[in-house]
Amino acid sequence: MSRRGAAVDPFIVMDVMAAAAEKEAVGERVVHLEVGQPSTAAPRMAIAAAHAALDADRLGYVAALGLPALRERIARHYRERYGVAVPVERIVVTTGSSGGFPLAFLAAFDAGERIALAAPGYPAYRNVLAALNLEAVDLPTTAEDRFQPTAEALERAGPISGLIVASPSNPTGTMVTPAELKRLAEWCHARGVRLVSDEIYHGIVYEGETATAAAFSSSAIVLNSFSKYFSMTGWRVGWLVLPEELVRPVERLSQNLFISVPTLSQHVALAAMECRDELDGHVRRYRANRDLLMAGLPATGLDRLTPAQGAFYLYADVGHLTNDSREFCARMLREAGVATTPGVDFDRARGARTLRISFAGSPEEMEETVRRLRAWRR
Ligand SMILES: Cc1ncc(COP(=O)(O)O)c(C=O)c1O
Repeated sequence: MSRRGAAVDPFIVMDVMAAAAEKEAVGERVVHLEVGQPSTAAPRMAIAAAHAALDADRLGYVAALGLPALRERIARHYRERYGVAVPVERIVVTTGSSGGFPLAFLAAFDAGERIALAAPGYPAYRNVLAALNLEAVDLPTTAEDRFQPTAEALERAGPISGLIVASPSNPTGTMVTPAELKRLAEWCHARGVRLVSDEIYHGIVYEGETATAAAFSSSAIVLNSFSKYFSMTGWRVGWLVLPEELVRPVERLSQNLFISVPTLSQHVALAAMECRDELDGHVRRYRANRDLLMAGLPATGLDRLTPAQGAFYLYADVGHLTNDSREFCARMLREAGVATTPGVDFDRARGARTLRISFAGSPEEMEETVRRLRAWRR
């Protein structure tokens, strides 16, 4: 096995999911708060578009950069949502935002370069960087900074070639303000550091404003996806907004790595962009779930919660209850039937004292969670 292959860490949450499946196989009910995805299907009109496309289209390969109509519609999205004119040529459709990671990292960075990112953070960033012989540089963040990188932390990080920012963040649901994002973008641009802004949770926001890095920097790379707000995880469609000079390299990489993004999914994504009413309904449910947990969990001992400004996660400090979050989550699942994700997935240095709770499910599941955990902790 190559050293690169060996360097890639597993997702520890998969162990939780396997243990939950074992419990369910013997007829026990598990409340799933470990999964980072909407509990809903693609919007109804988008499903109808899928049926129509199956009947009408050959669904062969399409251009590596994506269906022209979808790229145009995404460009319009930037005008309408953010008031930013992004030329359609700079928009590239990808196989989920995950498909955008290797394309962006390969096009922007050379092997051995150092890329800074917040800890806690989404684990695939560091794992994909490792697989591509890039060095992930942790910026240990704090609740006071809303778990987001600051220009001061960057000054301390030593020489870096890139910075990944995710707002709203997975696992904390915290955001950078538009002013902070602008400051980070300018800091990066002035130093020739490539900003990669993961905007996958845009649209799922409860407090504060989201800005796109595309508004502040012509050298930034924006990652986005149809997986979260658009409720289309399994369809595997996302997009990149690229600096002009990276479009052609990404096109060549994409042609060779993927040929093209699933054609049916691109038709469905295009239709999903017209389904805001249905999708905003999901966001209202997430908000109610968040409020329900913020009100109910403290009585269970989980009282050190980061209030999510967006996404569908609560990050809990459980340092007063355990110094082994993996064992704690396993026991919570075994004894209370509530599945959560240990913080070690997101923060290797400090995650033994934290866990992530996903509230993408139903209000009934959130109520059931509070009931079960109260009884468990009594
Ligand atoms: C912050 C963040 N970025 C990217 C992804 C990847 O999602 P997808 O490949 O479905 O777009 C996820 C998935 O959970 C995520 O949380």
